[in-house]
Amino acid sequence: MTSPPSAAAMATTHAAAFTQSRPWTKAEFAAFLDSPLTFAVGDERCFALVRVIVDEAELLTIATHPAHRRQGLARALMTSWRQLATQRGAETGFLEVAADNAAATDLYRVCGFSVCGNRPGYYRRQNAPPVDAILMRQAFAGAK
Ligand SMILES: CC(C)(COP(=O)(O)OP(=O)(O)OC[C@H]1O[C@@H](n2cnc3c(N)ncnc32)[C@H](O)[C@@H]1OP(=O)(O)O)[C@@H](O)C(=O)NCCC(=O)NCCS
Repeated sequence: MTSPPSAAAMATTHAAAFTQSRPWTKAEFAAFLDSPLTFAVGDERCFALVRVIVDEAELLTIATHPAHRRQGLARALMTSWRQLATQRGAETGFLEVAADNAAATDLYRVCGFSVCGNRPGYYRRQNAPPVDAILMRQAFAGAK
C-alpha cells in the first residue's frame, strides 16, 4: 500500500462495500482528492479517505472489498491514516458510523475510538426505519 488509490479504484471498492447506501461516484472521490485538505491511503482492496482541518482529522470513509475482509487491511489503514493525519497536524480524530454497522463499530473500538455523540435517525434505509449515527473520537497522543 505505497501509492494512493485512484478515484476510480475507490469508487469501485466503495460500491462493492456499501450495500445499504448510495455509493460515492468516481467524480465525488476525484473532488475529494483535489482538495489539499483531503488524502487517501490503501489500494483497490481497501482504502480510507481522510480530511484534516487544522488539528482535527475526520475519517470520511473506509471500505474493504468483500473479497478481502477480515485480513487486517482496514485495521492497518486505521494506523496509516492516523500517522499521516498526525504529520499534517491533527491531534484528534473524529468519525461517524451507523449504529447497526457492527463491523465498523468494532473496528473503531479496537483502534481506540470512543463514542462522543449520537445523531438520531441520521441514516435513511430502504424499506426500513432510519438508523442513528454514532459519533466517535480519539485523541491521537498515545493512540493504538
Ligand atoms: C468495516 C470494514 C471496513 C472492516 O474491514 P476489514 O478489512 O474486513 O477489517 P479488518 O480485517 O482490519 O478487521 C479489524 C477488526 O475490526 C473488527 N471487525 C471487522 N469486521 C468485523 C465484522 N464483520 N464483525 C465484527 N467485527 C469486525 C474486528 O475487531 C477485527 O479484528 P479481528 O479480525 O481480529 O476480529 C469492512 O467490513 C467494510 O468495508 N464494511 C463496509 C463499509 C463500511 O461499513 N465502512 C465503514 C463505514 S463508517
